[in-house]
Amino acid sequence: MPQHFRISEETRKRCAIIPADERTLRQFKSVSPEYFSYLLEAPESVTFSLYFHVENELIEFIKPNELSRELLTSLVKAHDRALDDSKICLRKKDLPAFLAFMNRIRNSKITQLKHSLPGLNPQVLAVYETLSGASQLVVKGGIDKDAASQIEEAAAALISNQLGAEQSVDTLSQLVLCDPTLYDHSASVAMFAGLIAGQLRKKEGLKLPFVNSTQVALSGLYHDVGKTCVPNQILNKPGKLTDEEFEVMKTHTTLGYQELLSAQLSGVDIDNAVARVALEHHERFSGGGYPMGKKGRLEDSKEEGIHIYSRIVSIADVYSALLMKRIYKEAYDPKQAIDIMRKIATKDFDPDVFAVFEEVVSEVVQKSEDPDHHDHNHSGRIIRVG
Ligand SMILES: [Fe+2]
Ligand SMILES: [Fe+2]
Repeated sequence: MPQHFRISEETRKRCAIIPADERTLRQFKSVSPEYFSYLLEAPESVTFSLYFHVENELIEFIKPNELSRELLTSLVKAHDRALDDSKICLRKKDLPAFLAFMNRIRNSKITQLKHSLPGLNPQVLAVYETLSGASQLVVKGGIDKDAASQIEEAAAALISNQLGAEQSVDTLSQLVLCDPTLYDHSASVAMFAGLIAGQLRKKEGLKLPFVNSTQVALSGLYHDVGKTCVPNQILNKPGKLTDEEFEVMKTHTTLGYQELLSAQLSGVDIDNAVARVALEHHERFSGGGYPMGKKGRLEDSKEEGIHIYSRIVSIADVYSALLMKRIYKEAYDPKQAIDIMRKIATKDFDPDVFAVFEEVVSEVVQKSEDPDHHDHNHSGRIIRVG
């Protein structure tokens, strides 16, 4: 049974404490545990306070310019000890400063990586940096015109750079293995989805509707926007979700769709097809997905079918999730990820889109199958459980 967390007298004396009533909590946003490692690596001080929310109190644990590894370590430790009962939060008004701070740390980590792994493609890394910045704007929630145009610019930059599939997949796969904290799910989904869309456009003879690659990449950036409404305890739960928790998790599709529709209503230019991907990216080609249990192609059935953008993003989504190390799972290498996907492909994915995706990742997968390549360059390719 989880023990109640007790705040030490020393902490009570040192910190300002605010009652965490519902109205106050609306002014705060919790920081996902995935960012903790970023905070711990922060080389600079912060201009905002970090709060520890436990039971019905908000403790101003780290004040502006007070950031230290020692304080952060005890904050993260307190969070871990308090199990599901606690959150690390900041005031919503400080979100822009927090995002800028995270961007600076991410960018300096990417720069370091460029030096330690010269084989990474610098153009792919530059585009990835831009996409990650855009993805953070999505996660922040409350999409306004400014955020939407920055997000669209990032998607357009991805497409106009015409990145090669091989370098992109290879660079991203290496990046996640070298520094898993740099892996950004929506940014990588955007990248893989954009690559699939680009490859699809080269195909002749496929009876698929017109695909706008920038809109597909944009759909990748927005697809999980509804996750801002799912509590971190569920998003980052180590181990299996209970049935109730899974029901909450599923709502990220409908809530994300609603968020994008309300952004549209307030004058933000978001294509209907892009909003639809937030709703449909967990639908499965033979049915059995959520939230509506749709199946097949929209071109074949207006009522039941799944939009082509959603069929593309759902493949990119699964691939990205498999490559990513999360609190509740280990990362797979590109070959393992594609093997897992082949097993579910006939059921879950549009076969035409999956065939194109296999072409996109084929060279990287072949490389990781090649024992010589493995030995020389990527002996650390497979992350061990531990
Ligand atoms: Fe999702
Ligand atoms: Fe996703």
